[in-house]
Amino acid sequence: MTNPHIRLLLLLAALALLSGCAKMTLAWADLKPAGPAATPPVLDAFAGDAAINTPSDWEARKPLIQEALEAEVYGAFPDASSTRVLDKRVLNESAFGGRGVLEEWTLSATAIFGDRAVVTKLFPGHDGFLLELVLPAQASEPVPIILMETFCPSWEVIPDPAVSRPADAREMGGGPLGGVMTYVFGRYICTPPFEMILERGYGVAVLYPNAVPDQRSEGLAELRRLSAGYEDDETRWGAVAAWGWLFSRAIDALETDPRIDSERIATWGHSRYGKAALVAAAWDSRVAAVVAHQSGTGGASLNRDKKGESVGDITGGYPHWFAKSYAAAAGEEEEMSTDQHLLLALIAPRPVLLGNARRDVWSDPNGAFRAAMGADPVYELLGSDGLSQPRLDDWRPDSEIAFWLRPGTHGVVKEDWPAFLEFLDAQLKN
Ligand code: GCU
Repeated sequence: MTNPHIRLLLLLAALALLSGCAKMTLAWADLKPAGPAATPPVLDAFAGDAAINTPSDWEARKPLIQEALEAEVYGAFPDASSTRVLDKRVLNESAFGGRGVLEEWTLSATAIFGDRAVVTKLFPGHDGFLLELVLPAQASEPVPIILMETFCPSWEVIPDPAVSRPADAREMGGGPLGGVMTYVFGRYICTPPFEMILERGYGVAVLYPNAVPDQRSEGLAELRRLSAGYEDDETRWGAVAAWGWLFSRAIDALETDPRIDSERIATWGHSRYGKAALVAAAWDSRVAAVVAHQSGTGGASLNRDKKGESVGDITGGYPHWFAKSYAAAAGEEEEMSTDQHLLLALIAPRPVLLGNARRDVWSDPNGAFRAAMGADPVYELLGSDGLSQPRLDDWRPDSEIAFWLRPGTHGVVKEDWPAFLEFLDAQLKN
């Protein structure tokens, strides 16, 4: 069989594995917003609170929206939290061809629900979970940070043998499967272009969020253990909320380091971690900007009138990601008091990039664009331009809501990172 045939077979096999995604990758997203406006209108009366007219009205509204999103989608967040930096080690003074310094930090985070405090689980051989940090070499002033949660474990994201790995580590992006994964999901699916990022003056913090494992039974067990008092399935938080919370715990640690500009920490995530990157920003005002690539359902895409992955699909496939109430809303999305434009509105006026691909209809680019339109009045109320592009493909990286639509499917491909950096430069370097 010739090389192109083998590639095609591999591609089809991988697509078949991704069942739901597969049926949607043959469809195309519309280039113009299509479908009804997001409801409820973001400035209307909500949960007994009168319509919004001023920025201070909006400040008072935010906790009501958070509460409603917790009840309907994400589950209860901890009442309080704390984070300890247990260890910082330099792994490589001259990483990425001398462009960066690689460090490994050990963190421990505590979730406090009521009067019960529970500590996150340990990374094998360490006293906590790990954060890998790559800082530009010889930076003369505090640097902005791209804080990312990743699918691939950190020892695969960062190709340096000094990064800690458990003895029984399973390969994801490396080994023979790595080629297929990169072929299907793009060259940057596991490892971002560190050299390019460092040269632009950003540091990168990599958090492999396995303190809350992304597995149905293991994940649920850990979520129940961490949320003491809320462990029953009706109220416990979902993994997306917990991953958002882990972003914030990493910020607790990063903001104490003088080499880091704590006012310029951006969260970055692809797909499920794009959902978490948005949640982190919506609950934590220290997040200066967000890059949420293909965050889809439970992320930037509206629940109502959607194409692609429905609420029923996602809660059936990934029951540990959300509160049980989200699953119960499947087929009755109209009855929900919230929709995902409210999540985006909570981030206003901070900049957010919503990344999309034309054939990734499973993530519903159109629903994400309508959510951006739905959140836009809050950006304007707060004195920002918000969304300024009329179409999905009219890329404007200097708008506070920037919508990136490229050709192709689900993944992180060659043209994505230059766009992410263009947006971050426009937003964080002025
Ligand atoms: C599945 C899931 C999506 C998710 C994606 C990912 O396709 O249905 O909601 O965003 O996995 O994380 O790659």
